[in-house]
Amino acid sequence: MNLQYLKDEVCDIAIEVGDFIKEECNNFNQKNIEIKSKNSLVSYVDKTAEKRIVTFLETLLPAAGFIAEEGTSDKEGEHYNWIIDPLDGTTNFMHGIPTYSISIALKFNNEIVLGVVYEPNNKECFSAFLNGGAFLNNKPIKVSNQTKIANSLFATGFPYYDYKKLEGYLEVLKWLMYKSRGIRRIGSAAVDLSYVACGRFEGFYEYSLNAWDVAAGALIVIEAGGIVTDFKGEKDFIFGREIIASNNSIGKEFQSKIIDAFKP
Ligand code: IPD
Ligand code: CA
Ligand code: CA
Repeated sequence: MNLQYLKDEVCDIAIEVGDFIKEECNNFNQKNIEIKSKNSLVSYVDKTAEKRIVTFLETLLPAAGFIAEEGTSDKEGEHYNWIIDPLDGTTNFMHGIPTYSISIALKFNNEIVLGVVYEPNNKECFSAFLNGGAFLNNKPIKVSNQTKIANSLFATGFPYYDYKKLEGYLEVLKWLMYKSRGIRRIGSAAVDLSYVACGRFEGFYEYSLNAWDVAAGALIVIEAGGIVTDFKGEKDFIFGREIIASNNSIGKEFQSKIIDAFKP
């Protein structure tokens, strides 16, 4: 499999669909909002974007199946499966906030081998393939080399429907408020992870995320030299609904605070 070639093709479709999403922002009306469940919103924009991506990827790699947020295809691939979030940051999009992204990853058996995150309003395409490094608009990127939590900027996503782990979550948030340079909640987990990968954030943590929120971004962080784990410090962060991502130097301290806060 030529992952470099696939990555370039996936960047092109993400950019094309990103332009469509951006364009639709001008026509978007609150009446277009459908509610999937508490605080989980969707519209024709997410659905159309996903259809376009799936149609393109079906031709690009006919043997692959799909795990796609809006359920466009339920085809299961024997070895290859695309993991797609056609619009990560839907709530931002619907409120006219320009931070959102398209996230597309390719899984080979149990391993993510390719990841693309495109942020249309910044025209930034983050990408990576297994053992091939991580890129921002085709230039190599690395996680930051900041060694002190006090000089580090963090990202997170606030719980908005699943409050089961709120206590541990708030304990980490409070610790970061006292210890770090600051915390951002920008509203797209795929963007949060991409910003860790290129050194804008030193760390990110969130729970109750789905595979399509994190699969591409996690590979981009790892290929940029960062660390990604679940809340036990283990590797179940794609389907395990818990993720910690960070640079290497502050990683241990950040990770052990989270592991400790979420201990049963
Ligand atoms: C959401 C975003 C957000 C995160 C949510 C996700 P969506 O994805 O990634 O940052 O906090 O948990 O569900 O719904 O906009 O695709
Ligand atoms: Ca998402
Ligand atoms: Ca989405």
